[in-house]
Amino acid sequence: MSKSPAPTGPAFGRYLDAEKQTTLLRFITCGSVDDGKSTLIGRLLYDSKMILDDQMDTLASDSKRVGTRGGALDFALLVDGLAAEREQGITIDVAYRFFNTPRRKFIVADTPGHEQYTRNMVTGASTADLAVILVDARKGILTQTRRHSYLVSLIGIRRIVLAINKMDLVGYSEDRARAIEREYREFAQRIGLSDVTVIPMSAIEGDNVLEAGTRMPWYRGPTLMRHLEDVEVGAEDLARPFRLPVQWVNRPHHDFRGFAGLIASGRISKGQRVRIVPSGRESTVERIVTADGDLETAIAGQSVTLTLATDVDVSRGDVITVHDAPLECADQFEATVVWMHDAAMLQGREYLLKIGAQTVLATVMPLKYKLNITTLEHVPAERLELNDIGVCELQFDRTTAFEPYSMNHALGGFILIDRLTNDTVGAGLLHFALRRSQNIHWQALDVDRNVRAAQKGQRGCVLWLTGLSGAGKSTIANLVDKRLVALGRHTYLLDGDNVRHGLNKDLGFTSQDRVENIRRVAEVSKLMVDAGLITLVSFISPFRAERRMARELHAAGEFFEIFVDAPIALVEARDPKGLYRKARQGILKNFTGIDSPYEAPERAEIHIDTTQLTPEQAAERIVEHIARAGALTVAGRGGA
Ligand code: ADX
Repeated sequence: MSKSPAPTGPAFGRYLDAEKQTTLLRFITCGSVDDGKSTLIGRLLYDSKMILDDQMDTLASDSKRVGTRGGALDFALLVDGLAAEREQGITIDVAYRFFNTPRRKFIVADTPGHEQYTRNMVTGASTADLAVILVDARKGILTQTRRHSYLVSLIGIRRIVLAINKMDLVGYSEDRARAIEREYREFAQRIGLSDVTVIPMSAIEGDNVLEAGTRMPWYRGPTLMRHLEDVEVGAEDLARPFRLPVQWVNRPHHDFRGFAGLIASGRISKGQRVRIVPSGRESTVERIVTADGDLETAIAGQSVTLTLATDVDVSRGDVITVHDAPLECADQFEATVVWMHDAAMLQGREYLLKIGAQTVLATVMPLKYKLNITTLEHVPAERLELNDIGVCELQFDRTTAFEPYSMNHALGGFILIDRLTNDTVGAGLLHFALRRSQNIHWQALDVDRNVRAAQKGQRGCVLWLTGLSGAGKSTIANLVDKRLVALGRHTYLLDGDNVRHGLNKDLGFTSQDRVENIRRVAEVSKLMVDAGLITLVSFISPFRAERRMARELHAAGEFFEIFVDAPIALVEARDPKGLYRKARQGILKNFTGIDSPYEAPERAEIHIDTTQLTPEQAAERIVEHIARAGALTVAGRGGA
């Protein structure tokens, strides 16, 4: 038995198949916590004699010490030992276990939970030919079983083994096994999994793992090991057109410029014509460099560095393709998302999205539905909670080369990352590009923002006031507005309560509605700045993510975040609109500071401590600040 990081890449196994006449099967196991996943893998390793003598000794003594089987060998310990290593940070994400029989080599992805395998599989970091889905014979098909199966089918694994484990605990009952099989087959068919082999077994006792044993004479199918040895695997990735997402540009010295990455599909030879996407430039492959020397030809699953005959511009995130089958580029997509985080995915929020070797900003616009995993119904939704699977539209912040996931996992699978915490929060797959945006062009206008600003003798900017309800935002904004007008400036004040009477009257106060509320007002403020106005925005705007989004809509120096800081105790005592009282009584739900969060700014341009300043002083400070920052000065004219 050995354990090591994955031999990277889609189709690596198929590479071995094709190139070395060795058959290799990659598979994953999915199960709920107590279904016996570790015991099954341990049993496979043990029965296939892949355990070294010293490991055997350790297993025997560990089984006596901490085993759960009264001193008998506890195979789960073989695999769960890994958990300790993982806690020490030795292994990352997924550990791969290798074993072999005289007939085949196997790699089993041993994953601590479905998050990791979803993430790795979706992005093509690993592929599996087959999935073993474990169920406990006593419990039968659980929601978790359905979710795993659905994910497996989404990810594109077509061959399934349903391992009905713990048959010893149901007296090896044929009726029980058949009932589970019927229920599973019915579900599998509905989600498009047709290649399902059902094997009743006891991983602990060893029945139907390597040997059939004598306790289930009614079962005539193969044992698990026999099936794993016999099942056929294909070589699809090799048949597809060549694609190399460029991971980095390797430029050790002036004479060498190579483009390194993992070949996602197809094959490439020296002298072949290639095209760079998205730029569309063409060139010819000069060398294929690897750690083990140059190659004439390289194939899917290999990590290579290409050098090109001509000096074309290639950057990280670009894709090198064969010239006669180039990739599509787009910035709007329909996609499936699997959400993997406690904090819900919100429609309208921006997330970092990693696809191929590229990272973009993506906004969920809109969420079309989520899936009821039991009934497979499409349920309307505005957010995805932990473990939800949904279909949404995604807007990228730039045009990106892609392929539908069904054609290319590496260029159609993605992960979503929270911008503030850097946590991986979801994984997904692109279905297709939406053509809408291609029919909408940006109109170049002759009267541009500079003309409009000059006409008003000022520059547009945004004064964004954030803070709790009742903190004094509107009062201060109103005073600032009056001062600026008195100084002859052209302004506009967008106030939360007022905008919610018109443009945003369809929105309430759930997190997703607040995200949309801020997205709209941020876009409106952008239009107003474009019109040359000094724009005051007075919204609670409780989330950092959306304030950051608003900031990034504007040019540097044109956005001033102003934190109107008032302790909750103070505003609650003041309670000018009587809303805190209602919130405390439970009449008003999702009230900021009470049962809905307020994320205070970390780096606001202006911090107004309302316990120290009167509204007049606050307004004066704000006007001074923006004057000092040059926002009130226009070339050739005096300041405030
Ligand atoms: S935001 O959170 O989406 O930015 P916004 O500034 O538009 O909020 O609206 C806040 C105003 O709506 C408050 O000043 C208050 O008058 C009113 N309001 C009504 N219900 C709520 C609520 N649940 N939470 C906060 N404010 C509320």
